Amino acid sequence: MNQYATPAQAAEARHLLQVYPQLGIEPTGADGVYLQCGDRRVLDLYGGHAVAALGYRHPELLAALDEQAKDLFFQSNAVALDVRARAADALIDFAPDNLERVFFANSGAEANENALRLACRLTGRRRVIAIEHGFHGRTAGAGAVTWGAADSWYGFPAQPFDVDYIARDVADDVADKVTSDTAAVILELVQGVAGAYDLDPAFVRAIADACHATGALLIVDEVQSGVGRCGAPFASHLYDIRPDLLTAAKSLGGGFPCAALLTTATVASELRAGDLGTTFGGGPLACALIETVLRVIRRDGLADRAGKLHEQLRAALPLGPVTGLQGKGLLAGLRCSRRARDVQRELLAADILTGSSADPAVVRLLPPLILESRHIDQLLNALAALPAE
Ligand SMILES: Cc1ncc(COP(=O)(O)O)c(C=O)c1O
Repeated sequence: MNQYATPAQAAEARHLLQVYPQLGIEPTGADGVYLQCGDRRVLDLYGGHAVAALGYRHPELLAALDEQAKDLFFQSNAVALDVRARAADALIDFAPDNLERVFFANSGAEANENALRLACRLTGRRRVIAIEHGFHGRTAGAGAVTWGAADSWYGFPAQPFDVDYIARDVADDVADKVTSDTAAVILELVQGVAGAYDLDPAFVRAIADACHATGALLIVDEVQSGVGRCGAPFASHLYDIRPDLLTAAKSLGGGFPCAALLTTATVASELRAGDLGTTFGGGPLACALIETVLRVIRRDGLADRAGKLHEQLRAALPLGPVTGLQGKGLLAGLRCSRRARDVQRELLAADILTGSSADPAVVRLLPPLILESRHIDQLLNALAALPAE
């Protein structure tokens, strides 16, 4: 019997490492918030894992890519570019007020790796505190602060720094863990892989205060939560905190691979030429798309809309198998009365693609930010038709 759900899956299996669980669809095209899968039109509430911020075939994104490709396809960071300066200006304009400098990178893990390295180097300390159930990427440093990695895929014989975890939302543990030995605390305000779990604001405040008191740097990983997804430009705005280092990726380029590390003027003043580097980060194509994504999100009020769509969803629950909602904006977790994997499969049978999470009871939504109220209605109608138990 054929073990593959689609012809492309069988074709990939010829030579690609089989390291990714498969969603079991084969999109042949996409437009707006819909994927075309043969003759099926599937509502995409997964967004290529929170990446397709402006959906598919967005005219301004396509035009920016086309124009930049024709003007100047690539130059390294050894050459200053106006498009790179504009992307940095737009990002700083979008970010929390205290963040004034940007380093462009290629992936969320790379941005986090650099943030962790800067924190250890600038503080001269070797202990990093992370939060249970957090995910930060698969490189040596980012994997070292990813909950559960050491037991499953990490693989390096040693971690580059000491790591300690704080249980989620246990504010009383913060003072014991964040001390004058701590280089940094790294956290996701809304833990994506964990199932869009939004941390308690009082817990986050306790961490921010402890960092301030001990000189530890606060690294906020907004790789999944940032760029308008949570109902504000960044989740840091919602929580009203001022990170020393903030990382962004995924939605940032609307599907073009890119990432950014943002920091304060104080941290920036410690850095000299040669301290950070990358070949592809800050390339002109990525920068043209970053500028476009941020402009469209701002102009079309997509961050606000993400918050409103979350409220539309909340108002309709409980419904079918969904008993509760967590997360913020369009990084949302549907808590289910039965296995999330089954609910996800049943929604896909109704032509709605959703994400799974590390929590077996949570279906995750990470759709394009151009989603509209009628698409939430489509989801709600499909959920209403599913059995509760
Ligand atoms: C919060 C968070 N940080 C970092 C990463 C790693 O990003 P990348 O896969 O671009 O390296 C991810 C990826 O899912 C993520 O969700």
